[in-house]
Amino acid sequence: MSPRIATVFMATGVQGSSAIRALLKDGTFTLRAVTRNANSEAARALGCEVVEATFGDKDAIKKAVTGAECVFLVTMPFAELSEVNQGKNVIDACKEAGVKFVAFSTLPSVNDISGGKYTHAIHFDEKAKVQKYLEASGIACASICPGSFLENIHRGMLGCPFTKTDTGYELTTRERPGSSSIKTWTGHDMGPAVAALFTQYATRSAEIDKKTFVLGSQKATTEETAAELAKGLGAPVTVKHLGAMGVFPVDDMYDFSAEFEWFPGVEVPDKRLEALGVKVGSIEEFARTELKKHIGA
Ligand SMILES: NC(=O)c1ccc[n+]([C@@H]2O[C@H](COP(=O)([O-])OP(=O)(O)OC[C@H]3O[C@@H](n4cnc5c(N)ncnc54)[C@H](OP(=O)(O)O)[C@@H]3O)[C@@H](O)[C@H]2O)c1
Repeated sequence: MSPRIATVFMATGVQGSSAIRALLKDGTFTLRAVTRNANSEAARALGCEVVEATFGDKDAIKKAVTGAECVFLVTMPFAELSEVNQGKNVIDACKEAGVKFVAFSTLPSVNDISGGKYTHAIHFDEKAKVQKYLEASGIACASICPGSFLENIHRGMLGCPFTKTDTGYELTTRERPGSSSIKTWTGHDMGPAVAALFTQYATRSAEIDKKTFVLGSQKATTEETAAELAKGLGAPVTVKHLGAMGVFPVDDMYDFSAEFEWFPGVEVPDKRLEALGVKVGSIEEFARTELKKHIGA
């Protein structure tokens, strides 16, 4: 019997590498990881077949998805090629190659939900457009929406360091005070979510096809997040709000999130993912097992 193949885009990233780890552990699929550089340390560490493709190279994309049953698509904002065109190139290739199921890492449309008030968060809006294109493609599909990555804390994203203080730690944030948002341990939880969809899309189609799943440990303010981190680290964590960054897409994202729900009525953790067997980790567990190592605590 020929192997069941799954292709993972942006395979060396937080999301892609999580999918590779979980799918290797699951064992149902033979994996094909897509990167721009198959010789990088990160690519060589993946432990599966690695192929090179950029989102603009339609021939290379076609090769990467040919023979694959399932594809996990992650796109990159603010790149040379728009996310919409990245997504279209991959989805068109999947259709031509007869891919059976595509899982897409999505975000909601800030422009649409805010009724045109916030127009600069194109890293959200373009993903929402890719999702619509995918759902209209005729390929069975599902979208997974992560919230703010907990990994941002040790990656120091958007100029927000996590620093040691005399008494414990300081969590710096650009989230608006009082704003509550979805916190996602992406490296830990994206992979199991993708594996659950890939292994069940045919048998549980009514629960999966064209659905948008919300991936998160908890919906929390920065202060609530700090309290959970403190439990995991065994030391107090204070919060410093930095406020606006002066970068339109980032500022619109945070202003939007302070004013609008991303997915009104959807509980976090998402019960529909739990029903598919996905058990997400907690913020406290993230702090105890991952953040501690990164900060050398
Ligand atoms: N950070 C957050 O809180 C957050 C929340 C929700 C959604 N997101 C979304 O997550 C996505 C990023 O995913 P990630 O965090 O998993 O990625 P990541 O860890 O930043 O890694 C991205 C990988 O993509 C490749 N890459 C970098 N630039 C690229 C380009 N221009 N074209 C193609 N590949 C490129 C690189 O791999 P190679 O060098 O091996 O090719 C890199 O390892 C973005 O779309 C972002 O909007 C982030």
